[in-house]
Amino acid sequence: MALIAILAGDGIGPEVTAEARRVLEALDLGLTFEEAKVGGAAYEAAGHPLPPETLEVAGRADALLFGAVGDPRFDNLERAHRPEQAILGLRKAFGLFANLRPARLFEGLEDASSLRPDIARRIDMVIVRELTGDVYFGAKGRGTTEAGLREGHDLMRYDEEEVARIARVGFETAMRRRRRLLSVDKANVLETSQLWRDVVIEVAKDYPDVALDHMYVDNCAMQLVRDPGQFDVILTGNLFGDILSDQASMCAGSIGMLPSAALGATGKGLYEPIHGSAPDIAGQGKANPCAAILSSAMMLRHSLGLTEAADRIDAAVAGAIREGARTGDLGGSLSTRAMADAILERL
Ligand code: NAD
Ligand code: IPM
Ligand code: MN
Repeated sequence: MALIAILAGDGIGPEVTAEARRVLEALDLGLTFEEAKVGGAAYEAAGHPLPPETLEVAGRADALLFGAVGDPRFDNLERAHRPEQAILGLRKAFGLFANLRPARLFEGLEDASSLRPDIARRIDMVIVRELTGDVYFGAKGRGTTEAGLREGHDLMRYDEEEVARIARVGFETAMRRRRRLLSVDKANVLETSQLWRDVVIEVAKDYPDVALDHMYVDNCAMQLVRDPGQFDVILTGNLFGDILSDQASMCAGSIGMLPSAALGATGKGLYEPIHGSAPDIAGQGKANPCAAILSSAMMLRHSLGLTEAADRIDAAVAGAIREGARTGDLGGSLSTRAMADAILERL
């Protein structure tokens, strides 16, 4: 019997994760659930955003269902105690280097997208984002220059193995789709990116059936808004992938629609909406639970091999949206609970 660790976190994290759990329970898959605190909630209860008892539950679990972390009350703590360290720490602790962020437009959401309907309709891509390296995990610090000015620095760095393993995930993902991989970097300026590009080209030799292209990240940001239908699989680093996926979400209707999977070398994965704790709407029952619910489908597919149940969740979300179920972010007025009910009715 598979054990799912529920790490709901802060803000709307608990609100959307509760709905994802309800959907999983309705499918009667014999899963067991254990909850543990992360982020600001864990800091308040245990003095640390990722306490040992949470790591212990996560360590035993077959998969982790994560909500979101972040709380403005803790934005001025020293960095090691800030809520966001919980998600960074989990990714690192379990070697979850590969982040899949699929973005597609659900039928009926053309009007929610910031793009013209004829452009929005064509979005169907996966962003493959490296998740345990880059400027996120390089040496960082604050200090004073010789001239007495305050300074800050974060080292952007990758080694060739880190690039090669995420590149393989990108090529494998492309093989299961339309066989087109676009590697996004800033090789015209950054040495990290030149290494990235060199290694991706080397790995491409093992995937002769995949058409590989390269694009600079600034152009990619523009092309995402101009014509997102041109993309199949985007392969990119940690920082660029973070930014491009939030942008892609709005092309697809809302940040409340995009799920993600964080995977490593074993079957264990962490599944979470790409959005954060949304302090501006937390506690009001307004959050869109679709990203969390779709993340639970990714969990069934990638960690538990329950493909059919995953397909049922995806179809129920698509059905509810097609028939007009909408939370506020999508231009409607359903509560988080009512949106999930609309999905549950179609399971
Ligand atoms: P955010 O994603 O939390 O919110 C951005 C905007 O999108 C807000 O207006 C919010 O109301 C809206 N939004 C987000 N999710 C929504 C949903 N499901 N339904 C409807 N509207 C939704 O980003 P932010 O405001 O930059 O960050 C808030 C906090 O979340 C910060 O502390 C940040 O560090 C954290 N964060 C955490 C994660 C994570 O846990 N993986 C991801 C992103 C941000
Ligand atoms: C995300 C978030 C995180 C990231 C933060 C909260 C550390 O923005 O999951 O997209 O930057 O990876
Ligand atoms: Mn983000």
